[in-house]
Amino acid sequence: MPWIQLRLNADEDTAEKYSNWLTACGAQAVTFIDAQDTPIYEPLPGDEVVYWSNTVVMGLYDASHDMDKVLNYLKGIHPDKENMQYKLEQLEDKDWEREWMDNFHPMKFGERLWICPSWREVPDENAVNVMLDPGLAFGTGTHPTTALCLTWLDGLDLTGKTVVDFGCGSGILSLAALKLGAKKVIGIDIDPQALQASLENAKRNQVEDRLELYLPKDQPKLKSDVVVANILAGPLRELAPVITEFVAEDGLLALSGVLENQAEELQTLYGNWCDMEPVAVKEEWVRLSGRRVGRRKSS
Ligand SMILES: C[S@@+](CC[C@H](N)C(=O)[O-])C[C@H]1O[C@@H](n2cnc3c(N)ncnc32)[C@H](O)[C@@H]1O
Repeated sequence: MPWIQLRLNADEDTAEKYSNWLTACGAQAVTFIDAQDTPIYEPLPGDEVVYWSNTVVMGLYDASHDMDKVLNYLKGIHPDKENMQYKLEQLEDKDWEREWMDNFHPMKFGERLWICPSWREVPDENAVNVMLDPGLAFGTGTHPTTALCLTWLDGLDLTGKTVVDFGCGSGILSLAALKLGAKKVIGIDIDPQALQASLENAKRNQVEDRLELYLPKDQPKLKSDVVVANILAGPLRELAPVITEFVAEDGLLALSGVLENQAEELQTLYGNWCDMEPVAVKEEWVRLSGRRVGRRKSS
């Protein structure tokens, strides 16, 4: 399947912000190159990201994505709306996968959890290791929103718990929850390819018998001990009644895919159902979390 790549010109001050914009508009991956087309490699944990003074920020979108909508949105918030420098091009998915493979290393989240590509050595055999190879669905652990959710899951005692992973993408959070001891995970995604990727990744980790996968139209009605939703602020806003309905009384909820300037509104909204905790921040991204109270609080 072909992909569309949006190249947006930036500099060292704007590169990260533009990267977040592209992700917020639904990019499946964002990479950076300089004017000479030299890639910046994914930094190892703890390394600082370096940008060039003439950086091109590249967002990768599914070919069916509405790019007119993306461009209208970007032109609305770009500091130089009239002269926003960008280019749209088609990209074969193979190139994208190759790039991820070259740059993907084992990564640790929290105290126990590692995400390891299959072609690299597992750094700690005794840790909780999720084997995951980059594919066509979002979720390798390199993005701050995924990292925030993985760290949150690692900090919970999931033994025997039921978890809903809303917007499961590659299944990375589902697999982490299962390997951390969850009894069962229900993964939900609007993208059938994401469900397929989640299933394949679950098989690779021998946890497929404890993972159920659904498109939203087929999703079961159930109450879960833990719910995690790493989708963007827009769907989190619209789907607040649906997402909170999955959380059992006293159950835990984490939300990510939210930029810092969007957090307050969502914190207030989800406060209608949950006792919210202080947010966690990584780069410009935020994770909200809370505990479901018995019935909906009055707003
Ligand atoms: C940012 S990715 C997160 C993937 C993975 N959970 C992670 O943390 O890396 C968001 C995923 O949510 C899915 N998604 C977006 N809107 C959705 C919706 N309304 N209902 C269900 N899934 C949705 C997308 O298809 C995508 O796979």
